[in-house]
Amino acid sequence: MNPPTNLTNPTKAPTPAGGTPQGVPCVSRTDVLRPVPAPSVASAPGEGNPHFAQLGGEPVIRQLVDRFYAHMDALPQAAAVRAMHSADLGPVKRVLTHYLVEWTGGPQAYSVERGHPRLRRKHQAFAIGPHERDAWMACMQAALDEVVSDATLKAQLAQAFARTADFLRNDAAHAHQPSR
Ligand code: HEM
Repeated sequence: MNPPTNLTNPTKAPTPAGGTPQGVPCVSRTDVLRPVPAPSVASAPGEGNPHFAQLGGEPVIRQLVDRFYAHMDALPQAAAVRAMHSADLGPVKRVLTHYLVEWTGGPQAYSVERGHPRLRRKHQAFAIGPHERDAWMACMQAALDEVVSDATLKAQLAQAFARTADFLRNDAAHAHQPSR
């Protein structure tokens, strides 16, 4: 959803059909989104994006990630996506937790360790089409249903996840420039 430099401010990202709720993590055309402020700018947890605090901080995000991968292990339609992952989910759970902490407006847990997210590039090794997108999203929706009780927050997060998962499609029908 935007040029490479604008990874950070949802208010500057192009508004998708139906609009972007203020503060909802947005997907950049180059990557996923980050809530304000930019990774290079020191920020207080939650600054510019209320979701980290609304969710209950890192413990709840860790729980969300645990449930997400539990569903990926269990849901038949997610078997192909599970097979893309390492047998040991420990490392990716940790990375995804840190990513989501930052994505929702918490401390820069991800970028200080792993640099710019560049999620599209990091997913290029995996064939992601509509089936994989929907399977990933089914796992995340099930985790959100279990972990997030606030209906509005859950809907906002689900929308942002769905947009991000669709952005990561790299099938022929959804080709992006390879450098992104
Ligand atoms: C659309 C379907 C998706 C598929 C099939 C997919 C698949 C994968 C796979 C196979 C890995 C590597 C796991 C490993 O090392 O064992 C990975 C890493 C990762 N994924 Fe996804 N993913 C998808 C969507 C998403 C979405 C929507 C997000 C964020 C909201 C996301 C965030 C991440 C992150 C942060 C990493 C770790 C990146 C790093 O190494 O720094 N993924 N994904």
